[in-house]
Amino acid sequence: MSIGPIPTIPNPQKSATACMRLRSVSSAAIFCCCCYVVGAVVTSTGITVSLGDVSYFLPPKVVASISLSEDVKRMLVSGTFVPFTVVKGGDYSAAELASVTAKYLEEDDVFQEGFLEGLYLQGENHTLSTSQVQIQNISASVITGQASQTLNPGPYFMSAAGEVYEAWRLYSDTNGAFTESAIANGDGSYSVLPAGILGQRIAIAVPSRLYYAKTEEKPLAGVRIGIKDLYDVKGLRTSNGNRAWYWLYPPADATATPVQNLIDAGAIIVGKMVMSQFANGETATADWVDYHESFNPRGDGYQDTSSSSSGGGAGTGAYAWLDVSLGSDTGGSVRGPSQVQGLYGNRPSHGLVSLEHTMPMSPVLDTAGLMARDPILWIAAAKAMYGSNMTFSTAYPTKITTLGWPTSADSIADSLLVDFLANVTSFLKANATAFNMSTTWIEENPTVDPLEALLNITYPILIAKQQMPLVRDPFYRDYAAKYDGRRPFVDPVPLVRWGWAENSTATVEEAVANKTMFMSWFNSTVLVPDAETCSNSLLMYVGSIGDTIYRNVYRDEPGPPYGFGEWSVSGFSEAPDFVVPIGEAPYNSSITHHVEYLPVTVDFMVAKGCDGMLFSLIESLYEAGILKKALAGRSGITGGDILFRRGVGVWGDMRE
Ligand SMILES: *[C@@H]1O[C@H](CO)[C@@H](O)[C@H](O)[C@H]1NC(C)=O
Ligand SMILES: *[C@@H]1O[C@H](CO)[C@@H](O)[C@H](O)[C@H]1NC(C)=O
Ligand SMILES: *[C@@H]1O[C@H](CO)[C@@H](O)[C@H](O)[C@H]1NC(C)=O
Ligand SMILES: *[C@@H]1O[C@H](CO)[C@@H](O)[C@H](O)[C@H]1NC(C)=O
Ligand SMILES: *[C@@H]1O[C@H](CO)[C@@H](O)[C@H](O)[C@H]1NC(C)=O
Ligand SMILES: *[C@@H]1O[C@H](CO)[C@@H](O)[C@H](O)[C@H]1NC(C)=O
Ligand SMILES: *[C@@H]1O[C@H](CO)[C@@H](O)[C@H](O)[C@H]1NC(C)=O
Ligand SMILES: *[C@@H]1O[C@H](CO)[C@@H](O)[C@H](O)[C@H]1NC(C)=O
Ligand SMILES: *[C@@H]1O[C@H](CO)[C@@H](O)[C@H](O)[C@H]1NC(C)=O
Ligand SMILES: *[C@@H]1O[C@H](CO)[C@@H](O)[C@H](O)[C@H]1NC(C)=O
Ligand SMILES: *[C@@H]1O[C@H](CO)[C@@H](O)[C@H](O)[C@H]1NC(C)=O
Repeated sequence: MSIGPIPTIPNPQKSATACMRLRSVSSAAIFCCCCYVVGAVVTSTGITVSLGDVSYFLPPKVVASISLSEDVKRMLVSGTFVPFTVVKGGDYSAAELASVTAKYLEEDDVFQEGFLEGLYLQGENHTLSTSQVQIQNISASVITGQASQTLNPGPYFMSAAGEVYEAWRLYSDTNGAFTESAIANGDGSYSVLPAGILGQRIAIAVPSRLYYAKTEEKPLAGVRIGIKDLYDVKGLRTSNGNRAWYWLYPPADATATPVQNLIDAGAIIVGKMVMSQFANGETATADWVDYHESFNPRGDGYQDTSSSSSGGGAGTGAYAWLDVSLGSDTGGSVRGPSQVQGLYGNRPSHGLVSLEHTMPMSPVLDTAGLMARDPILWIAAAKAMYGSNMTFSTAYPTKITTLGWPTSADSIADSLLVDFLANVTSFLKANATAFNMSTTWIEENPTVDPLEALLNITYPILIAKQQMPLVRDPFYRDYAAKYDGRRPFVDPVPLVRWGWAENSTATVEEAVANKTMFMSWFNSTVLVPDAETCSNSLLMYVGSIGDTIYRNVYRDEPGPPYGFGEWSVSGFSEAPDFVVPIGEAPYNSSITHHVEYLPVTVDFMVAKGCDGMLFSLIESLYEAGILKKALAGRSGITGGDILFRRGVGVWGDMRE
């Protein structure tokens, strides 16, 4: 093992710099570690630096120290950092190093050529005897000191004292998808990221993907996940989409179960994400009074994001640097954002993951669902989150039931839908049959009301009459106690819904009874458990067809969400309902005066408890080439810069 000085051989191209071979970057802010200021211990909360045009965050934890010779130490300027690359030990030739680091450049958005300033070969048996090695046309200095800890491959920064810090890249939340950034403290709690960046938005930090290797215990190692701001994350405040709530209550002292399950599987929680208030459906712009709705990246960039998991849908659609977002779905809050942003998104079977430390809307309807562009990553995250409550199986139904499916290809969206159904039908060697739930219900239940009457007020009664005692009343009480009897501000949508429900004589019990009546029929007639294929049938309905919902349109006053529709079937039946993107359709944008494209998506449903079978089926359809990954950016099919921020380069990285 060689503990030698960092070589000082002059770089032929930079001979003027002579022995200052190692170029260093200085930090934008350095917080002194463990110095005493009027008796208070001040500890570092991290450091920001820029390398080239790119901003990085260095978490305060020193991950290793490299023993540097006095010669090298004299060369380095205190308060500056040297970027360098760690490559796993081995017997590399310069050409092999070039190919390894070329792979780093391709696979990781945090890594860049600037880190090739220095090279540290982890392990003892490398045979590089030169002090400089030519990689990607850069002459890298081989760091020969010994690190105190094994370093994972990837980009790092070293202080003048030889302390090694991780490199986390900073991105601007240009689409306003996050309410707050987050960084792990290392003790199970999180803090707000103390960093800023150009872009008029908060900065989010993501670690190098090269640090992580997925294992059986950590299947989500390094996967970057954003969390809807109704899940508690220990150390952070929760807003539930309400400003007064955010400030009234202290930071959470525990983490919600679905989030903890993701963390335990290795996920990197990068921030809390925008939601409509108390998870009620709001439409931009008028409804969003307390907070602004996120920006849907697709098409002209001024379409509604849908809600309530607005930030999760917008962020997952917009940012290649974000892998997955955790939303919640009571009446469509994961499915809606997935449909209009062209993402994979699931409403699970009810009860699949417990929802401690999570704001309730209607406990009999609330579920935790995930959104992603990559179906394989989405499935891995679901597997980690639902754990043993979900069983994967690969015997699929051979019966397909469709609701409201087009039969002729009269538009681009319809032709995508017709082709997709044909593809799925042929893949399953199945027969597809159109089904009319309302007329079948009447035929089979002649003595009770039609579904449109039975279930007309069931949803608004459940969400408001369950949320009022669980959320509104303690909130009003606690706020009044603190502010001399005052009321906190609440957006019009939740206020109208609560007000309507307060005047209604209908009860939660009556709503649950109606729901149960529907569910019994549904699970014995429409999607029936099956010993072999889990569900007797696969139900398909149209998710989105590229319709516009401009966010700059003035709308009617809000009212309770009456009515029965395709969207409410999974809630009332407790069966899973997953969105998959299948293409996009053109429209003439009234914003850009140009043809733009919006997502076309499909919803799949199977019997309650068959989530694992449905995930497997989607994976099989992906492997067969019938489904594809969605891309980040203006289009889920071809990617591309989001229109309003075209050409912003390093701030809006579009690499997939
Ligand atoms: C390095 O080489 C020695 C001698 O060949 C061997 O015993 C040792 O296991 C090697 N170490 C690594 C990390 O490969
Ligand atoms: C290295 O430089 C040469 C000559 O300037 C150029 O042709 C080549 O493409 C460069 N290679 C890389 C990997 O940048
Ligand atoms: C599985 O469901 C049970 C019952 O609802 C719940 O107690 C448990 O926490 C769930 N498991 C996970 C991983 O959430
Ligand atoms: C179901 O049938 C009713 C009555 O004929 C009709 O109004 C409705 O549009 C049909 N629904 C679908 C999805 O075809
Ligand atoms: C599909 O329909 C055809 C024609 O009616 C029938 O022969 C075939 O058995 C059906 N297949 C399945 C899987 O039900
Ligand atoms: C649903 O309820 C609302 C409010 O009571 C009512 O105005 C509407 O007519 C009802 N619709 C049906 C189909 O019963
Ligand atoms: C329950 O169903 C009855 C009968 O159709 C209907 O009159 C009532 O409004 C429903 N109530 C709720 C809360 O769903
Ligand atoms: C509730 O009923 C009262 C009395 O009829 C009425 O004044 C009030 O406007 C109603 N509130 C809502 C939200 O409908
Ligand atoms: C069908 O729904 C009823 C009513 O909710 C429920 O009691 C029953 O367990 C369900 N059966 C299955 C197989 O899911
Ligand atoms: C856009 O408008 C042009 C001119 O009116 C029309 O020809 C074209 O079909 C429209 N395209 C779409 C996708 O609606
Ligand atoms: C899907 O269907 C279309 C139209 O029938 C066909 O051209 C295409 O090859 C199919 N795709 C796959 C992956 O089977």
